[in-house]
Amino acid sequence: MAPSTRSLAPPMDLPGLSNASWPARAKARSACPEWTEALTTGHAGIDDDHRQLIALLADSWRALADATLPKADVRQRIEALDAFARQHFAFEERLLAHPGIHDSHRSGHLKAHQRFLDTIHGVIDAVENLPPDVCSHFMEFLGSWLLHHIHGTDMELARLCAEIGVADTDPMPIEP
Ligand SMILES: [Fe+2]
Ligand SMILES: [Fe+2]
Repeated sequence: MAPSTRSLAPPMDLPGLSNASWPARAKARSACPEWTEALTTGHAGIDDDHRQLIALLADSWRALADATLPKADVRQRIEALDAFARQHFAFEERLLAHPGIHDSHRSGHLKAHQRFLDTIHGVIDAVENLPPDVCSHFMEFLGSWLLHHIHGTDMELARLCAEIGVADTDPMPIEP
């Protein structure tokens, strides 16, 4: 039976994107994401993580494009991206737990993180069965999603943290 992409769903907070337009929308190829100063949020802890997150995403991106690389190695790189994304999202979510952060920002931000993780888990599950170019399209989408998320949602979180005086590198302790 042919492998299915049904379990692979894109993150949904890019303007104008819907499930109905996926994966046709992904046919447009985009460039591998790179860190630029324009991505600086001003929160040192968030910015340090974003540099690493973008580097790991670029690593997975290149691995998917390398036809000579065993699929197990490709999967390993995407799993490293997933592990770091989870660590970074947990960091931001400790910041989001601060009572000074608006509920509306918190709930949207949490949902956005979960959508990214759902998509990356779909890629991990599919990478050994689907053609590499299909997985590459999802990685391209994740790259676009990440830059969009940093420019919008994370910039707003950093602004709110500065406004309420949350430390730059030290998130709130997690309440038991
Ligand atoms: Fe975020
Ligand atoms: Fe972030």
